[in-house]
Amino acid sequence: LRKTSVQDLLRSTDLDREVLVKGWVRTRRGNKYVQFIAVNDGSGFNSIQVVANAEQFPEEKLKADGVENGAAIAVRGQLVASQGKGQTVEIQATEITVYGSADTAEYPLQKKGHTLEFLREIAHLRPRTNTFGAVLRIRHAMAFAVHQYFNDHGYFYVHTPIITGSDAEGAGQMFRVTTLPEQNPPLDEAGHVDYKQDFFGKATNLTVSGQLEGELAAMALGKIYTFGPTFRAENSNTARHLAEFWMIEPEVAFNDLHDNMDLAEDFLKSLVRYALAHCPDDLQFLNDQYDKELLARLQFVVDNDFKRLTYTEAVEILKSAKQKFEFPVDWGTDLQSEHERYLVEKHFKKPVILTNYPKDIKAFYMKLDDDGRTVRAMDVLFPGIGEIIGGSQREEDLQKLRTRMQEMHVPEEDLWWYLDTRRYGSAPHAGFGLGFERLILFVTGMANIRDVIPFPRFPKSAEF
Ligand code: 4AD
Ligand code: MG
Repeated sequence: LRKTSVQDLLRSTDLDREVLVKGWVRTRRGNKYVQFIAVNDGSGFNSIQVVANAEQFPEEKLKADGVENGAAIAVRGQLVASQGKGQTVEIQATEITVYGSADTAEYPLQKKGHTLEFLREIAHLRPRTNTFGAVLRIRHAMAFAVHQYFNDHGYFYVHTPIITGSDAEGAGQMFRVTTLPEQNPPLDEAGHVDYKQDFFGKATNLTVSGQLEGELAAMALGKIYTFGPTFRAENSNTARHLAEFWMIEPEVAFNDLHDNMDLAEDFLKSLVRYALAHCPDDLQFLNDQYDKELLARLQFVVDNDFKRLTYTEAVEILKSAKQKFEFPVDWGTDLQSEHERYLVEKHFKKPVILTNYPKDIKAFYMKLDDDGRTVRAMDVLFPGIGEIIGGSQREEDLQKLRTRMQEMHVPEEDLWWYLDTRRYGSAPHAGFGLGFERLILFVTGMANIRDVIPFPRFPKSAEF
């Protein structure tokens, strides 16, 4: 007899047959006549109920065998229609095998609910909870939906390097990668550690973005995307930042800023639609447990157009807002998340795409506007999140790009290969980066980014 997954059993209409299921005990309860064991194998949110008759399985024996919360077991029995509430089928057990028990006196996950803060301290066990099971299945579904969307629209998936010599954002937030010895490292002429010798004679770091390499590919394949881990050595202890996060970066030849906005909006809506269609049980649980507005908010994003306006227009709105902000708003300064959330949650009450930011607060590669002061940038702002996407039309003119690099102190010798795209067959193009964890935050309604990635990396993060 082959094992069947819990989800397949719960959906089955083929009853009164012998089945074998393997999973972990979520709860055991009952009385001296009958015991009910909820078994979950991770295949979906719902557990299957196993009915164990006391004649064959007295409670003392189940206890002695360790059939308790957290134990891994196999159950053989008849799949039958259930009389109980909340399920259509259950298993009448004929054989229960314990693979591994979990001493109830020690097991950190008790039947009662735990706070998310406590679960963060036992991050190695939290995938076993309802909440993290739901989050991790939704995370998987979103990763799959990303690939499906791009494949369906004729994009090619490009793998960009993790170890790189360049700083794609020019923001200096890189983790150094080095092969230099701790003892007696090579020194440069000034007597400092010579990081130029990090790796085969080059300074190296972990990538902050795959964009620059993505642009190379877009100049050959037309429509591409990357989807990989990225790293930021920023010391920000917020609920929206990680030191290691996953980013999705489409890049499209011959797209301008408007095409870029259209793509971002269609892409985000399609991902949320996918979650609503494919993760109903997990979303319903999160909605009921944490955030009663979650499902309504997801549906709203799918059904409504995003508001598009320029940074300059947004600054005017913020300046005349009645609300007092912690940080002042002035043309030329970057918007804080309190400003972004005011625009989205209070003023427009819908997702917002802000464009044409001042050039001084954006990266060197963005296309300069005709006014010479702003660039063709776009940030997509979401309720509860703030910035979920950052992107732009790129500067395709070699001379203008070099000027911007000089102004922003981006060394040309590091990016000579990037400049070649503008030397040979340069074309207008645009792209953006979607922070995968910010997407998962939005879709799950979780409040802290550390709760939507299995192994969060942040300053002083856990030991594994
Ligand atoms: O705005 P960012 O820095 O843009 C780029 O990296 C561009 N190269 C993207 C492009 O045009 N191809 O980052 C893009 C997105 C942000 O909007 C945010 O969602 C996410 O990445 N992000 C982070 N997510 C978690 N933790 C952090 N520390 C993040 N920094 C950025
Ligand atoms: Mg950004």
